[in-house]
Amino acid sequence: MSEHPRPLPALHWDADRYARDARFVADMAGPVVALLAPQPGERILDLGCGDGALAAQLVAAGARVVGVDSAPEMVTAARQRGIDAHLVNGEALTFLAEFDAVFSNAALHWMQRPVAVIEGVRQALRPGGRFVAELGGEGNIATIVAALSAALTARGVEPSSALPWYFPSSATYRALLEAAGFAVSEIALHRRPTPVAAGATGWLDTFAGGIFAVLPEGERATARAEVIACIAPSRPASEGPWMADYVRLRFRAVLPDAAASPS
Ligand code: BEZ
Repeated sequence: MSEHPRPLPALHWDADRYARDARFVADMAGPVVALLAPQPGERILDLGCGDGALAAQLVAAGARVVGVDSAPEMVTAARQRGIDAHLVNGEALTFLAEFDAVFSNAALHWMQRPVAVIEGVRQALRPGGRFVAELGGEGNIATIVAALSAALTARGVEPSSALPWYFPSSATYRALLEAAGFAVSEIALHRRPTPVAAGATGWLDTFAGGIFAVLPEGERATARAEVIACIAPSRPASEGPWMADYVRLRFRAVLPDAAASPS
C-alpha cells in the first residue's frame, strides 16, 4: 500500500463517550496483554494508549509505562489515570532505543502509514526488544465497512477517501515487520464477534461518527440512518446485544539481540 497519508476527515474523540461505550476494547484485550507478558521493571511504550486503561494494567504488573496517543482528549483521560501520557503521532515516533517492549491494542488500524509506524517502533526498542500488538485485520468489521461504503458511494464519495482504517492480512503485516528486521514469533488473524452493549448506533457514533462529515450537512443524518438500518436490522432484545464482526490481527515480533547481531 501507499505510504502517502490519505486526506481523511479529522476524527474527534469524546473521552466520556469512549469510557461509557467502548470499555469492551480494553476488557477484551486479555490475549494481547498475555502475549506481551509484561515484567516488573520493564520499560514499555503503549502506542495508541487511548484513555490509558491498558497502560494502567501494565503499570499494575510492575512495568514502567509511557503512553502515546494522537488524540488530545485521550491523552488527558490517560493522564487523569496517572499514566505518563504524551500527545504523539504514531507515524512519527522519535524515541531512540529506550524501551524493552512496544505494546499496542486497537490502535494500529487507525495509522495509514504502517512502514513509518514500524520503523518508529524499531527505533524505539532496545536490541532484543519486542513489539506485541493487536489491530483490526483483513475482513474486520466487513459488514460495517460495506454499509458505510454503500452510503458514501450513493452520494458520490469514494469510500477509500473517507474510511480511516487499515486492516492488513497477516502475510502483509508479517512482510512489513520482517522487512524492518523483526523476527515474527507469532502472527495470526482471529475472528472475534464482539458484543457491543451500546448497540450499532453507539458503536457508529463512538468510532465512525466523523466519517459523515465528508458529506454535505443535509445528507449526514440520512446516511447515518441508512448505515444503522443496514448493520442492525431490528431484532428482539432477547437475542442479546448487537454484535460487531471483529477480526483481530495479533502478533509478537522481536528485534535481534545486540549479542546476536553481526559486529
Ligand atoms: C477495531 O478495534 O477493530 C475497530 C474499532 C473502531 C473502528 C474500526 C475498527
